[in-house]
Amino acid sequence: MRIAFITDPHVGHADEKPMGVDVRQNFLDALAFLSELKPSCLVLGGDLCSDSGDASIYEWMAEQVAQLPYPCYAIAGNHDDSELLANAFRLGHHLHGHELYYAIPLEGRPALFLDTSKGEMSPAQWTWLREFLEALRDSNVLIFMHHPPLPADVRFMDTHYAFNQPDKFLALVRNLPCHVTVVCGHYHVEKIVQRGNILELLSPSTFYQMRPDTTEFTVDHYRVGIREISLTSQGINSEVHYL
Ligand SMILES: [Fe+2]
Repeated sequence: MRIAFITDPHVGHADEKPMGVDVRQNFLDALAFLSELKPSCLVLGGDLCSDSGDASIYEWMAEQVAQLPYPCYAIAGNHDDSELLANAFRLGHHLHGHELYYAIPLEGRPALFLDTSKGEMSPAQWTWLREFLEALRDSNVLIFMHHPPLPADVRFMDTHYAFNQPDKFLALVRNLPCHVTVVCGHYHVEKIVQRGNILELLSPSTFYQMRPDTTEFTVDHYRVGIREISLTSQGINSEVHYL
């Protein structure tokens, strides 16, 4: 099974071009590329909106993905409003209070979609995640979340905008009898972090990519990035495509 992961499009209102980038066109270009990739589903990794959640922007994005011949799942980032996003993408039944988190088997394999839009997860979401992982026992699991749960040696983001609960994530996952693959965005960087049984796949944005090695915010390049994840009988493999 092939999954396409598009993240951090930071779409604004029509004609808005943050940093001179036509973010709406970039999003459309990324979607157009999927006709080559031919995935079985698309996951949108959060920060769909440029500044803060906006129903009209979500509706525009949902209209675009509704034309795809396979399902689209979405998670919220720190620039999103989980409730507005869930309603636009017909995921409202997965809302738990103000958070959007859910589990969907992808060709029989467990996949969890988390909500880190506040930079952390509520006690209720932690309880749900713990119970889900414990019930899965030794089944390997795929997790989609906006924030990388563990530091990634991306200096500016690790020190300014990291996930607030990395120790809690590590404590929950490190002793599980399974492998946990986390697909995430937020850092606008392509990177792989392996720690114990956790494989963290940081994915590039469709807006701009950041340099990982500077303490100041520094743009690396503006090529649109899309991550492909394949679940095969050999395990999980992944690669990134740039337009
Ligand atoms: Fe983000």
